[in-house]
Order: sequence, then C-alpha cells, then structure tokens
Amino acid sequence: RLTGTDLLAEIQRLKRERNAVILAHYYQKPEIQDLADFVGDSLDLSRKAAATDADVIAFCGVRFMAETAKILSPEKTVILPDMDAGCSLEDSCPPDQFAAFRAAHPDHIALTYINCSAAVKALSDIIVTSSSAQIILDQIPPKQKIIFGPDRHLGGYLARKTGRDMLLWPGICIVHQAFSETELLKLKAEHPGAPVAAHPECPPHIIEHSDHVGSTKSILDFALNSPAQTILVATEPHIIHQMEKAAPNKTFIGVPGGDGNCNCNMCPYMALNTLEKLYVALRDLEPRIELPGEVMAKARVPLERMLEMAG
Ligand code: 13P
Ligand code: SF4
Repeated sequence: RLTGTDLLAEIQRLKRERNAVILAHYYQKPEIQDLADFVGDSLDLSRKAAATDADVIAFCGVRFMAETAKILSPEKTVILPDMDAGCSLEDSCPPDQFAAFRAAHPDHIALTYINCSAAVKALSDIIVTSSSAQIILDQIPPKQKIIFGPDRHLGGYLARKTGRDMLLWPGICIVHQAFSETELLKLKAEHPGAPVAAHPECPPHIIEHSDHVGSTKSILDFALNSPAQTILVATEPHIIHQMEKAAPNKTFIGVPGGDGNCNCNMCPYMALNTLEKLYVALRDLEPRIELPGEVMAKARVPLERMLEMAG
C-alpha cells in the first residue's frame, strides 16, 4: 500500500503516462485540491472538460460532474475515483418521474440544474449551473413558461430574484438544507459585521441572512475581495482550503449544520474520493464513466446550450 510522498509521486507518474488531467471540485479534500491541475465550480469544470486535449480526465467530484465531462468530451476516457459519489439532488429526480412532469406541462421548457443524471439532462432544454443560471434565465423570453429542477431552493432563489414564476421540482441538497439558522445567528452575534456568503442551494432562512449568494467560485471571489477580516461561509466547508491558501491572514468560518455538533455541512458523496482511489483509478482506468450513446447525444444539446448562453 502506497502512502505519503510515494502515493503522490505515483499519481504524478501515472498522470504523465496516461496523458491525464486531474479536475477537482472545491468540495474535495485539500490533498486532492492541491494535486489537481484545475479546481473549480461546476461551470468552469465543464468548460475545462470540453476544452482539454488530455486523453484521460480524472474527475475528482461527484458522478454527475464526471458524466458531464464525458458527454462534452465523448472521445476521452473519464474516470471517477469512487462511482458511489452521487448527489442527493440527482437522487431526488428519477428520469421517469421527470419525464411525466414534463409531459404534464407541454407548454413549459425545462431549465435544469446540472446536478442531475445524464438521463434527466437528456430530457431537458437548457442546463444551468449556479453561476450561469441567472445569465441564462435572463435570455429566455419573459412569456416562456419554465419548469425548473431538481433544486427547489436554487429555483426559488432565482424566482425571487428575477420575478419569474417557475414550476419547481421539489429536490434539495442534503448538505445545504442542513445549515442551521440558529447557529448562523449565533456566529453573526459572535462576529459582528462579518459578512455571510451562501450558496443558492441553501434554504431561504439562510439566504435571508446572507450578504452574498452565488456559486462556489463566486463565494471564493467574494471572500477574497471582501475588505472584511472574517467571513462566514454557508457552503460545503472544504472550499475554505482555497480561501486560506489565497488569504492566510483572514479568518473564514464554516457555518455549522444541524445542531452544530454534526459533520452534516460536509458532502458525504464528495468525501468518498480519496488519493488512494484516485491512484487506483489512474492505474486501472476504472471506475470509468460509460453512458448509452443515445443519452449522451441528447444530453449534449442542453449542455452545449448552457456553454453558449453562459458566454
Ligand atoms: P457549484 O460549484 O457550481 O457552485 O456547485 C455546487 C455544488 O453543490 C456542487 O455539487
Ligand atoms: Fe450534491 Fe449537495 Fe453534495 Fe453538491 S453538496 S454534490 S448538491 S449533495
């Protein structure tokens, strides 16, 4: 069993041998973020996956992200260190039920959050991420009726912000749902004046206390550019690694979930990926994303629309 610097050296050696690129989401463990060629939010990771000339994409994130990479770069081998790295939003939206929902509302287009299965993407008109949703929504004619799924909090936030009335699928992210308003208010009282940056997957009782709402990338930018010395962060706390690296003299505090004594503000799916599993995946080129050709072809259309409309 390889450990420490041997493990890191082997990953680097295999990466060169395979002509692989390592893409990681901000919610990954610090040691994975530090090793990655690129760390980003869902939109930037999609852009990187679409543009890379590597033969292999080692995706350190969750399955829907690796599937997106495969759909946008079908000729590449896409590996995911742990195939069980799912997402509660994806689980909340089974494709057959989504198809029935669409069929019940034939005059609506489906604007769908990227946190869903490839099969649900294939049933959608335009995919959005948290960083591109509003830019894309603003390009859709005001009279056009819209179904938004699967995250009802992101959908609700967009509806409140833009005044657009959308039919919302009732999905939630178990991580952002768990943030505690009581704990947030306690933190605000302990750190008067510290701004709160929140992800739009948070429920309204967290958003209403927030000074900035946006994707992981925009939370990171806000935290780094804010003149405040202390920032309260209402998203998965592994992103704080990038904040501390870029601004070691500032204080970043993750808002706790539940009663403050659990780890429920951490994503259990993202946590499944480890350096050991990444090493094995690069060595064996498994677990590998494989999707039916028809699903990939259909899902590519709304994903490419997203990339086009997001600019
Ligand atoms: P973004 O990085 O696009 O903000 O997405 C957050 C998220 O929940 C990923 O699972
Ligand atoms: Fe899914 Fe939430 Fe985890 Fe993101 S943080 S992968 S939305 S469960």
